[in-house]
Amino acid sequence: MDHLKELIKLAEKDFEGCKTLTELDNAKSKYIGKTGPLTEAMRGLSKLSNEEKPKLGALINDIKKSIEELLNARKDAIQKKEMLSQLENEYIDVTLPGLKQSEGSLHPISLTMNRIEHIFHSIGFDMATGPEIEDDYHNFTALNIPESHPARAMHDTFYINKNHVLRTHTSPVQVRYMKDNEPPLKVISPGRVYRVDSDATHSPMFHQMEGLWVDKKVNFANLKGVVQDFLQKFFEDNKLTIRFRPSFFPFTEPSAEIDMSWNGGWLEIGGCGMVHPKVLNQVNINTDEFQGFAFGLGVERLTMLKYHIDDLRPFFTNDLRFLKQFGDQ
Ligand code: PHE
Repeated sequence: MDHLKELIKLAEKDFEGCKTLTELDNAKSKYIGKTGPLTEAMRGLSKLSNEEKPKLGALINDIKKSIEELLNARKDAIQKKEMLSQLENEYIDVTLPGLKQSEGSLHPISLTMNRIEHIFHSIGFDMATGPEIEDDYHNFTALNIPESHPARAMHDTFYINKNHVLRTHTSPVQVRYMKDNEPPLKVISPGRVYRVDSDATHSPMFHQMEGLWVDKKVNFANLKGVVQDFLQKFFEDNKLTIRFRPSFFPFTEPSAEIDMSWNGGWLEIGGCGMVHPKVLNQVNINTDEFQGFAFGLGVERLTMLKYHIDDLRPFFTNDLRFLKQFGDQ
């Protein structure tokens, strides 16, 4: 009996030394498992007298109970400790500032193009695009700039081969669009254009936005109205005015340079005119029935004015410090 009582102390010490639930489980089987000393003692009861049997039986049960209590207490303690260390290890300071995902942003030229498209869309213009590698016919001939015509010298052209160029303006899209669609036509065409030119205010690649409206009665006054209306919307300034300065383009007649009021003066932002009958003839549009106007605006120029940028070069040097300023527009 004394030997059995000793078990409680041994178990207590043993359990105390257990650091994990698995260790504790292993220790447990030493005392109250199927092969443990208590089970063995239980089995031995049959050999005892009827008098001794209940005494020892009760003692064994008591010891078993005590050991189970010790076991449960230790189990609780280990679990609590494990939970605390888990809490400590997995502690999250929800007040720390988050790790911000750095977001990309649209290029200011793209922002301007989107803005242009949106405004013209709202007044019923469709959108068309054309190839940047253009053939001689669409870039020049169909626009009333025949070979060896001095007007070709106005464009410092990148030639791909004898018959193909990097388009020098977006006007060839006019030709393509008029060929593929029946009037009335109302379309804009923004895109890249190329000229052999590079300094602080010129880039060999830049963007233009072409506009074309062909219908029975569209006239020069409508042209001025549409361009002014667009610019007022674009710059969110309903006092903005424009002025037409007489000019020359082979594919329009009459032609004008578009100046926009700016800081008390005038700034040139593009060219325009009534589509030349020779151009309409090229695309089989009946000039007795239809006439139209066209304009071409410089997208970089519009962007510089809109965002108060005074140098063209940052548009093309991919400096993130510059580009990131347009993230939330
Ligand atoms: N294509 C001309 C240019 O590149 C601009 C323009 C477009 C002029 C449409 C008249 C009509 O300068």
